[in-house]
Amino acid sequence: MTDLAPFIAGLPKAELHLHIEGSLEPELMFELAQRNQVAIPYASVEEVRAAYAFSNLQDFLDIYYAGADVLRTRADFHDLAMAYFVRAAADGVIHAEIMFDPQTHTDRGIAFADVIEGLLSAMSMAEAELGLTSSLILSFLRHLSEEAAFATLEAAQPWIDRIAAVGLDSSEVGHPPEKFARVFAAARAQGLKITAHAGEEGPPEYVHQALDLLQTDRIDHGNRALEDPALVARLAAEGMTLTVCPLSNLKLCVVDDLVDHPLDRMLALGLKATVNSDDPAYFGGYVAENYRAVAEARGLTRNDLVTLARNSFTGSFLPPEAVAANLAKLEAYAAM
Ligand code: ADE
Ligand code: ZN
Repeated sequence: MTDLAPFIAGLPKAELHLHIEGSLEPELMFELAQRNQVAIPYASVEEVRAAYAFSNLQDFLDIYYAGADVLRTRADFHDLAMAYFVRAAADGVIHAEIMFDPQTHTDRGIAFADVIEGLLSAMSMAEAELGLTSSLILSFLRHLSEEAAFATLEAAQPWIDRIAAVGLDSSEVGHPPEKFARVFAAARAQGLKITAHAGEEGPPEYVHQALDLLQTDRIDHGNRALEDPALVARLAAEGMTLTVCPLSNLKLCVVDDLVDHPLDRMLALGLKATVNSDDPAYFGGYVAENYRAVAEARGLTRNDLVTLARNSFTGSFLPPEAVAANLAKLEAYAAM
């Protein structure tokens, strides 16, 4: 088999499913712990990496929320995001739609302003210095209450024009989309796009609810939709983008082995799948490594890879002119 890694690294692509807190590398975690005088329960970077063995989503979330405790200042959020943008640009990402979890920080006494202003300053710098455009997805933590989600939407109001979408993440099972129908309706009324994690660990019913009750523009993950043929047909007919995360699925035991990953089955069923890294510092690879690993495990062709990158642009929340400009870059690359 030819080595697809160079082709993948140069392939213009968008990343649509990335939690910025999940891009906190152990090295930066240590640096910020020292800068902010925060104690962390690890003696070395190696010890941190050794702790990243998960048997399900909750296992991971417990460690991920603990790691985020080192993030304290506007400069920390700037440095976190800038480190991600540098890695993403090296992976051929020309547009990124990054999720952030304000409640993880505001519940620790960090000002919403410090979180978002740090991210926004890195986003401006990434565009100026790396030519990488980006937008923000404010994600509500679904293990918390509807009331807390409303308070977060309220706190976001001064920056609402700088936020592209709202999302729904954290512990899925037991926290169905219906719990947040009203806050998503309020966000939609403000012109925000809608996405939600659904069908990662939760049943196909949660994907139905995300579509019907949240009126999503995208579904994050969506793996378990494959258990419901009528749902698959609906997702295909609606052209609903799925933001699939192969290495995350492997690390969180959504699949036992990448050779069993359903990505190409999704494409064959007419689903608009994309490839993303989710929480790259925790799952062992940024977006290009996700493309490469799943391509190798599933025998994907160059055409498949171009289809996945095309889906990443058409599934983005960019305006049509920007989508067209990014697609033109992709088609020029694919024709080389
Ligand atoms: N938060 C960060 N990564 C997540 C994932 N894969 N699922 C749900 N919540 C998350
Ligand atoms: Zn996610």
